[in-house]
Amino acid sequence: MSHIIAPSILAADFANLQRDIELVNRSEADWFHIDVMDGVFVPNISFGMPVISAIKKHASKTMDVHLMIVDPDRYIADFKRVGADILTVHYEACRHLHRTVQAIKQEGMKAGVSLNPHTPVSVLEDIISDLDLVLIMSVNPGFGGQSFIENTYKKIAQLRQMIEKSGSQAIIEIDGGVNDKNAEKLVATGANALVAGSFVFRSEDPEQTIHDLKHLKY
Ligand code: DX5
Ligand code: ZN
Repeated sequence: MSHIIAPSILAADFANLQRDIELVNRSEADWFHIDVMDGVFVPNISFGMPVISAIKKHASKTMDVHLMIVDPDRYIADFKRVGADILTVHYEACRHLHRTVQAIKQEGMKAGVSLNPHTPVSVLEDIISDLDLVLIMSVNPGFGGQSFIENTYKKIAQLRQMIEKSGSQAIIEIDGGVNDKNAEKLVATGANALVAGSFVFRSEDPEQTIHDLKHLKY
């Protein structure tokens, strides 16, 4: 299966959200990546339920929701209600990660866990077979447009090994600073989903940029 492309709506034009959602619908992108920030877990606030509902109304692809919030358990049912298909929580924000992952699945969503740049992949060893997705942050979470952290490749290789050994089907998603300079190496190293915000929406022709990210030569 070819890798997944997930444009990050954080970099869209919020005053023209419907236009940008339709652009992603038309494109070769696979998912909508939707970043929720609470101003506590990360030093920035993005958007919440009403905006996600509005996106859902127009989006014709999988809704990949990335929670950068403390205490995500409180909102799992709400995110299902507004249209999340995949719900990813941060390892660093969960006291009882196993319970949180089970609660996400019980709501009928795919469950993902995200790791900050400083968090080693080894912390997932005892939960990897329960996960549908692992999101490796390749920048510090909170803002779009930051530069890619090179140590990410090492983490992908380690995680790929762990997944293969465990028989888990988890998708490895990379988020932050993804562009045409690193995309091929990320997929070659073992990633199977790439999030791209600024690189897509700040480009002259976002649909073409999505096409180029989808058709890498590796
Ligand atoms: C950062 C978010 C990312 C962000 C990526 O905290 O999780 O999804 O939108 O943006 P770029 O691709 O611009 O680094
Ligand atoms: Zn994200």
